[in-house]
Amino acid sequence: MGQIENQAANFAGRFTFPDSSLSVDRMGYGAMQLAGRDGNKLVWGPPRDVDEAIAVLREAVASGVNHIDTSDFYGPHVTNQIIRKALYPYPGDLVIVTKVSVRRGEDGSWIPALSREELTGAVHDNLRNLGLDVMDVVNLRSMFNVHQPAEGSIEAPLTVLAELQRNGLIRHIGLSNVTPAQIAEARRIAPIVCIQNQYNLAHRDDDALVADLARDGIGYVPFFPLGGFNPLQSEALSGVASRLDATPMQVALAWLLHRSPNILVIPGTSSRNHLRENLKAATLRIPAEVLADLDAVSGQHSAVPVSRHE
Ligand SMILES: NC(=O)c1ccc[n+]([C@@H]2O[C@H](COP(=O)([O-])OP(=O)(O)OC[C@H]3O[C@@H](n4cnc5c(N)ncnc54)[C@H](OP(=O)(O)O)[C@@H]3O)[C@@H](O)[C@H]2O)c1
Repeated sequence: MGQIENQAANFAGRFTFPDSSLSVDRMGYGAMQLAGRDGNKLVWGPPRDVDEAIAVLREAVASGVNHIDTSDFYGPHVTNQIIRKALYPYPGDLVIVTKVSVRRGEDGSWIPALSREELTGAVHDNLRNLGLDVMDVVNLRSMFNVHQPAEGSIEAPLTVLAELQRNGLIRHIGLSNVTPAQIAEARRIAPIVCIQNQYNLAHRDDDALVADLARDGIGYVPFFPLGGFNPLQSEALSGVASRLDATPMQVALAWLLHRSPNILVIPGTSSRNHLRENLKAATLRIPAEVLADLDAVSGQHSAVPVSRHE
């Protein structure tokens, strides 16, 4: 089972992936913003400032981040190569999580790549570009709908990842962009340690799923925790931020950390200033009465934080 433990100076505390020795600070880092952009092609090519990208990664790790989310299809290859350049040889406690099932078209598009050959090639691409012999965690991203979870069997691609796990290339398996039915199907095939779906103050389709996974000690890693390419903006959020003497992005991250102890945040940024701002969210306590005000951001009912289950 996953375990949560608090650290006095760090409100986020740590999370241990279920049935594993992998323990991460709940304040992590998402590396997607380290790739560049070429016109309409997002997450494409090298960043404008490679030195700053390297500095962001080094400062994140020096500040205690030991959970980095990435993929070899960011760039493609570019983000992983920057991670290697910045951090190799990696600290012993660093957990790098990647995802597979996508290849990039020349026009920058995100194309499903779920055949045995494509999945195996993707795992090897990650290993080679990161300079690793084994990946700590590989997320299988469902692609029935590229933008949101959609039903359909993931048995065939997951069976391939389970084989790669048995062959020693992958320690643990996670899922991304999935429905509860797909998670249940997957758990009959292989142990699943984390789920990575879109979730933030304004996008709360997974409220019930977060609680279900918490009961089973499975990590929930929201992507677009700050709203993604268009960071969250709302009067309610700005109002709460000024009351708490924090920034809206800090409140958005702290809300996720309060929401449930199995939530691990991976905010993405290409700047050290934003990184510093985001990391401080781990020490921001949001009073219970303020949580209700934040529900106005999504217009949903108050979500009582899931109780800790250590
Ligand atoms: N599984 C999936 O399908 C999937 C999909 C998307 C992302 N992901 C993962 O999730 C991670 C997080 O998602 P994300 O990076 O796309 O979105 P995000 O963390 O919600 O937001 C990133 C955006 O917010 C800006 N930002 C960051 N900190 C800020 C601050 N303090 N103040 C103002 N703006 C700030 C960034 O710009 P600056 O660079 O200027 O700071 C960037 O534009 C990714 O890095 C990736 O690892 C997974």
